[in-house]
Amino acid sequence: MKNIFVAAVFASVLFTSCTPKSTPVAEAPKSAASTAEQIAQGKTIFENSCNRCHKLYEPTQFTSVQWVGIMNAMAPKAKLTDEQHQWVYDYVVSVKK
Ligand code: HEC
Repeated sequence: MKNIFVAAVFASVLFTSCTPKSTPVAEAPKSAASTAEQIAQGKTIFENSCNRCHKLYEPTQFTSVQWVGIMNAMAPKAKLTDEQHQWVYDYVVSVKK
């Protein structure tokens, strides 16, 4: 029982610390937060689709606000769907500096 409690506290701390401090205004409110699975997919898409035209940029090179604009420009170039666009965005901003 105690372990479950500890796990719950840990999970909530982890979840809270992963939430970006300032939510970018341009972020679409329609989509709920991505699951860990979707973020993992975002990483795969990022690593496979975002190095075709240039070297892979580091997620930590830009702020979450900058990534909004970058992804708006790059998602169409990489021919991502709206969902993939969201997952890649959620992945890059989930990487801690
Ligand atoms: C079809 C080619 C192409 C693809 C695919 C592509 N990019 Fe780019 N990217 C560019 C070009 C060209 C530039 C530089 C000119 C510009 O800023 O538009 C650039 C610039 C960038 C920059 C630098 C922006 C800055 O302000 O310095 C980042 C970051 C970036 N891309 C990320 C991505 C990500 C993430 C993906 C995958 C979703 C991606 N790119 C896919 C062509 C592409």
